[in-house]
Amino acid sequence: MAKIGLFYATDTGNTRKIAKRIKKQFAEDEVELFDMAKTTPDEMLSCESLIIGTPTLGDGELPDPLTEFLGQLEARHLEGKPIALFGLGDQVGYPTEFVDALGILHKKLKKLGAQLIGSWPVDGYEFEKSKALRDGEFVGLVLDQDNQADLTNERIEEWLEQVKPELLGIAVAG
Ligand SMILES: Cc1cc2nc3c(=O)[nH]c(=O)nc-3n(C[C@H](O)[C@H](O)[C@H](O)COP(=O)(O)O)c2cc1C
Repeated sequence: MAKIGLFYATDTGNTRKIAKRIKKQFAEDEVELFDMAKTTPDEMLSCESLIIGTPTLGDGELPDPLTEFLGQLEARHLEGKPIALFGLGDQVGYPTEFVDALGILHKKLKKLGAQLIGSWPVDGYEFEKSKALRDGEFVGLVLDQDNQADLTNERIEEWLEQVKPELLGIAVAG
């Protein structure tokens, strides 16, 4: 059984590629990938922690498979699991809806009582508005494959350094 379930939605495949890159940063069998278009929240029950990734589509909207998935999601699916989020967006094409889906996802999970980890600084991004902001930070890792693909690997590595101990259940208190 994989310890960490990485659930993602995608339209053109970028988020799937990132999900695979994230999986590679862990030991073999530590992370199992789930395409939300082909699975249900019940798959989360056997995971000890979760990573959830989504692009923003439309004008600041969730991809349809994520909307459907969230419609079936209940607090019991998330109970006791640290959850780290990541979002893909395009800060040049959508500067007033930048990674909004990440913020919408975060809000919904929070309402269900989720234990969310992995906020991320806004430094290095240029945008006007984003629903993914809380207290001056993004609520999860933000990646922009359209304009800053060259920064993606280092962003992933830095973020994982922060969230890995909690996801693997080896975080030291204090
Ligand atoms: C039709 C369309 C609408 C989009 N709307 C937004 C948006 O509102 N905000 C944003 O930050 N990015 C937006 N994007 C950019 C995507 O989130 C970005 O290209 C992402 O990498 C796509 O990931 P995917 O290949 O996993 O679907 C949009 C892209 C497309 C094609």
